[in-house]
Amino acid sequence: MKKIAVVTGASSGMGREFALTLEKHFKVDEIWAIARNEKSLSELGKQVSPEVRAISMDLTDPYSFAKYEKALEEEQPEICLLVNASGFGIFDSVSDMRMKDSDDMVDLNCKALVKMTKMSLPYMHEGSKIINIASMAAFQPIPYIDVYGASKAFVLSFSRALNSELETRRIQTMAVCPYWTKTRFFDRAVGEKQIVRKYIVMYEPEMIIRQAWKDLAKGKDISIYGTIAKGQAALCKILPHKLVMKIWKKQQDLH
Ligand SMILES: NC(=O)c1ccc[n+]([C@@H]2O[C@H](COP(=O)([O-])OP(=O)(O)OC[C@H]3O[C@@H](n4cnc5c(N)ncnc54)[C@H](OP(=O)(O)O)[C@@H]3O)[C@@H](O)[C@H]2O)c1
Repeated sequence: MKKIAVVTGASSGMGREFALTLEKHFKVDEIWAIARNEKSLSELGKQVSPEVRAISMDLTDPYSFAKYEKALEEEQPEICLLVNASGFGIFDSVSDMRMKDSDDMVDLNCKALVKMTKMSLPYMHEGSKIINIASMAAFQPIPYIDVYGASKAFVLSFSRALNSELETRRIQTMAVCPYWTKTRFFDRAVGEKQIVRKYIVMYEPEMIIRQAWKDLAKGKDISIYGTIAKGQAALCKILPHKLVMKIWKKQQDLH
């Protein structure tokens, strides 16, 4: 039976970094790389030892999942690792944001992540792992990043509950909660209005993913990189969220 790793968002940023480094942690025959940019997915094949199967899918399109389903049915692989890294955010007020953008954020960040997980689970065995990229945004409500923040709170809650539920099957699920990280994410997130202007830190994707591999090996259900990020996550748990939102708006000069 072919052993595979499946990585969504493997065309860039943190998903790409997971795909590039996973052979140090998992012995797989193939990496199934999923995103829309097929050229970038195919180029991954030149950078890693396992075979790369580029599966071009727009995960906001419900019909695209048939491609993944067909590939699974034909190959009947063992999925050792599923990384759900596809995702995007838009920084804007709920009133001004285009309906399509808020719909797509929920469809990609939440619905597609659940769908990929449900479709993959029948092919997972004892010792298989699921990594879902949530965000630091998961820990607090964030005015002007409302929809994105709520979508990532969903990912965090879903991942931790699933990890507990799958204990009996010995399948680990871990949510990765990056703080601001230098990727193409900002090309789409920051509009002309530049609502978010101040970034306390800006990490490199390599830092987040290196920490994620370490935390996965330790059996954790959540991975946070960096002292500032860990401190903020802790504060968000103890401070009233009304105060946390006030601090955020003051920091960004929002009213
Ligand atoms: N960068 C940050 O500061 C930050 C912080 C916290 C969490 N995150 C989260 O980290 C994850 C990875 O993002 P990133 O920062 O690495 O940004 P990125 O470089 O923009 O990567 C996003 C990935 O999602 C894929 N994607 C976007 N729309 C898609 C669609 N409709 N269907 C399938 N795939 C799609 C993109 O591929 P294609 O364009 O080829 O489809 C790309 O591979 C996301 O879930 C993001 O929300 C980012």
